[in-house]
Amino acid sequence: MPRVTYIEFNGAEHTVEVPVGTTLMRGAVDNNVPGIDADCGGQCACATCHVYVDAAWLDKTGLPEPASQEATMLSFAAAAQPNSRLSCQIKMQQELAGIALRMPEGQH
Ligand code: FES
Repeated sequence: MPRVTYIEFNGAEHTVEVPVGTTLMRGAVDNNVPGIDADCGGQCACATCHVYVDAAWLDKTGLPEPASQEATMLSFAAAAQPNSRLSCQIKMQQELAGIALRMPEGQH
């Protein structure tokens, strides 16, 4: 099963297996990885699953479509950066095996 490394703001790393087809938000929550709140349960309506995608993986995850709901939600997220994504909007694929995601300092 492909693995994902979630990196907390303080540098603590959590590498877990995430099934293909599962969102990267769900992969964190199901494995008790701290730092992703996911208040809306994956409905792209809270931005508390905000992550920064490591540059090496951005071409595979892509960025939110301009004016999409994800882009709109990210505009409300604290400390959004050009490599920001909502982890509930990225589904695990075999090509993402080994991806690293960094968490912001807070989700509100
Ligand atoms: Fe709410 Fe991703 S879980 S926007």
